[in-house]
Amino acid sequence: MKLRVVESYDEMSKLTAKEIVTRITTNHSFTLGLATGSTPEGVYKSLIEEHKRNGISFENVSTFNLDEYIGLDPIHKNSYHCFMQQKLFSYINIFKSNIHIPKGNTSNHQEECLHYESIIKASGGIALQILGIGKNGHIGFNEPGTDFSSRTHIVNLTESTRAANARFFSTPEEVPTQAITMGISSILDSKEIFLLVSGHQKAEALHKLLTTDCDNMFPASSLKNHSNVTIIADSDAATLL
Ligand code: F6R
Repeated sequence: MKLRVVESYDEMSKLTAKEIVTRITTNHSFTLGLATGSTPEGVYKSLIEEHKRNGISFENVSTFNLDEYIGLDPIHKNSYHCFMQQKLFSYINIFKSNIHIPKGNTSNHQEECLHYESIIKASGGIALQILGIGKNGHIGFNEPGTDFSSRTHIVNLTESTRAANARFFSTPEEVPTQAITMGISSILDSKEIFLLVSGHQKAEALHKLLTTDCDNMFPASSLKNHSNVTIIADSDAATLL
C-alpha cells in the first residue's frame, strides 16, 4: 500500500479528483467505483468544478457505488441514490444508464446481489475504486468479521455504524438496520483502489491499518492483499503515524 499524506481535507479532495480526471481523460472508457459518506464529498465537489470550469466530460464514465441501505426507496432523501444525485451526478454529464447503485428496495435482495456482481463483471470490472473507512475499519458496509472472500451481500449494520450515520437522519431510530454492499472480494477485484482517510476521528483506524496484519476483524486490512492501493490521508488523520 502506498501512503500519501497531504495537509488538508481540501488538498486530499483536489488531489484525488485530479487523479480521477487523469484516468478518465486518458482512457477511452473508464469504470469508477464510488463511495458515499462525508469523506468523498470534497472529491465530488472538485469533480463538478473540473466539469464546469475545465470542461471535463464524464460521457465515457460508468460508475458503481459500493452500497445502499435496505428498505429505502431510491428517491428517499437518505438513500445513497439520492446522495449521489445531490453530490455529483446531477451536476455532470454522465449518462444515467452508466450509473449503477445497488437497489435497496427490491423484493428479492439475494437476486439483486447476484445481479450487481454480474453487471460489474459485464462492464469489464472496476478500474478505480474510491473508498472511505469506518472507525471500526469497515470498507463499504463490510463490518468486522466479514469474510475476505465475500461478494455483494446483505449485512446487518453494527450499532456503531448506525450511530455514526445517524447524523444524516432526523432521528437515530430511522437509520436502517441492513444494507446491501459490495463484498471485500468484489472490492479487491478493482484494478486500483484509493482509500481516503480524513480527520482526527479516523487517526486510530489509519494507524491500526498500517500497523496490523490482515485480520478479518478489521476489514480494511484486506487491502494489504491488493497490489495497487493508495491511501490518501490528510494531516489530521495521520496524527498517530
Ligand atoms: C459508504 C461506505 C462507508 C464509508 C465509511 C466512512 O459508501 O462505503 O464505508 O466510506 O463509513 O464514512 P464517512 O466518510 O462518512 O466517515
